[in-house]
Amino acid sequence: MCGIVGYLGTKPAAPVLLQGLKRLEYRGYDSAGIALLHRGALYAVKQKGKVGELERKIEEIEKGGATKRVGCAAAESRIGIGHTRWATHGAPSPQNAHPHLFGKFAIVHNGIIENFAALKESCLLRGEKFSSETDSEVIAHLLAQNDCGDLLQTLQKTAALLEGSFAIAVISLNAPDAIAVCRNKSPLIVGRGKEGLYAASDIPALASSADEIFPLSDGEFALLQGETIKFFDKTGEIDKKPLALSLRADLPNLCGFSHYMRKEMSEIPAAIASSLQKIEVDFRFSHFCEVLCQTEYLQIVACGTAYHSGIAAKYAVEALARIPVEVRVASEYRYCDPIVKKNTLAIAVSQSGETADTLAAAQLAKEKGAYLLAVTNAPYSSLTEIADFHLETGAGREIGVAATKSFNAQLAALYFLALSLAKAKGKAADFSALQTLPALSEEVLSDIEKIKQFAPVFAAAKSVYFIGRGADYCAALEGSLKLKEISYLPSEGYPAGELKHGTLALVEKGTPVVAIITQKKFAEKTMNAVCEVYARGGRVLLITSLAEYAARKEVEQSFLIPRCEELFSPILSVIPLQALAYYTALERGNDPDKPRNLAKSVTVE
Ligand code: AGP
Repeated sequence: MCGIVGYLGTKPAAPVLLQGLKRLEYRGYDSAGIALLHRGALYAVKQKGKVGELERKIEEIEKGGATKRVGCAAAESRIGIGHTRWATHGAPSPQNAHPHLFGKFAIVHNGIIENFAALKESCLLRGEKFSSETDSEVIAHLLAQNDCGDLLQTLQKTAALLEGSFAIAVISLNAPDAIAVCRNKSPLIVGRGKEGLYAASDIPALASSADEIFPLSDGEFALLQGETIKFFDKTGEIDKKPLALSLRADLPNLCGFSHYMRKEMSEIPAAIASSLQKIEVDFRFSHFCEVLCQTEYLQIVACGTAYHSGIAAKYAVEALARIPVEVRVASEYRYCDPIVKKNTLAIAVSQSGETADTLAAAQLAKEKGAYLLAVTNAPYSSLTEIADFHLETGAGREIGVAATKSFNAQLAALYFLALSLAKAKGKAADFSALQTLPALSEEVLSDIEKIKQFAPVFAAAKSVYFIGRGADYCAALEGSLKLKEISYLPSEGYPAGELKHGTLALVEKGTPVVAIITQKKFAEKTMNAVCEVYARGGRVLLITSLAEYAARKEVEQSFLIPRCEELFSPILSVIPLQALAYYTALERGNDPDKPRNLAKSVTVE
């Protein structure tokens, strides 16, 4: 995680860096900082908290006027680097905020330097002092030790000593018109625009300023100097083509909503429709259908919400195509020497396409002989680079840290895939069931404000449980994750039938339990668990498409959703659960878009 930016050009650097950092805040917001080069000196301004706080600090410094040299640098410098942090090593504090300065160098880093302890020890033995607890600061020390007067070569020598993941940007007094950058297992792009050269962790940071964007691959370096960008790998200088992307359309806008999460929920129908459309085209013009014909096993690797969409896919694929599906949390899969049989299709699901664990698991599946399909919401990402085939979901940019529309979009794509697999295996496959989903999700949203009334009860709870069976269990898992990540309430998603094997002990008078019932064949069975909860004084909120169950005395409150193909129902039932998390977070005074301790894109292990 963490977002890094760099700029050199004709404009004052500070506002450019701050704008880039704001657009990377989804990567972390524990602290932020910038370093500027100005008249032969390096200056850093750092602040705990979000980029807005750093911006206010810089404004205050500037108001101090040209008498303060740092104020002058903030107003005039044309070259600098910046960072927004998600803390790994060292608490969120101004001391641990990047950039880190040492000698003639200032650096920003995204990733984890795994051998930092040994490297730091050797610096300490040389008598060097550290001012932070971070792993990253050691990079600045190593640059000073390896300083050969040439910025790029100094960075190359330094990077050779580092183990772990890193995207690094460096400025130095040795080269007042240059920024050197490098990448290993953390995303990094550089860009060129009319007013300068840029580096950043991700495309949105450069969306309104760069005309051309060049992604770096692992092991590559770039030197941005004056008006030119040069690229290098271990063989020497290399050529790079810019990405063929439209860069201007992607700027964030709340469009009148108070939070991105709520706005993004309102975009669910469009996200589903556009995902189905894109995927149909991808299938029509590709060799991928042949891969499906040969597929005998499926392995799905993912994290968090994307993992839950994998579970929904398992229920759908096994029911429709009768192919065994293994769904694994990517961070487990990567270290468990997984068994990959012949004719395995591995699917890596990731909104960002940059999640470190998912990338590593996907790479491993591929190395073990699986055909690798990436399902991402990013037209370009590290995951799409390594995949044999890529299905892009059409959710559009998602800013809220809590995934909403991207989950519904993943489900749409994976249900399409399940039907395609069924068709490839000669089984019945009714694709028309998918086409109704955008309108049905619109119907759910038209009623969604009703969920607000339940928030006070949930906000006051000690803990909350979500239960369901089959596909409804997947919705329970996702509802629980949403609630815990933005309301900070302890919560668990459970298979309804499993409740009595332990978790029921936690249900007491007043404990809120959300039950999801959308599948007829499981309805009575899930109701058994509802009755068990009711008998212990639990308060049941039922999310259902089967109106008859809403009237049962054990159900205190209910929210009705329209009926759809039952296997696909999580795509609808999750919407009230997303809303429940959202309104509960607001009730508890939390910012649903930027939950504490989290970041949208988790690019470290
Ligand atoms: C969900 O609300 C989360 N913020 C998180 O679980 C997320 O889904 C996970 O980190 C995976 O991200 P990805 O889809 O970008 O790989």
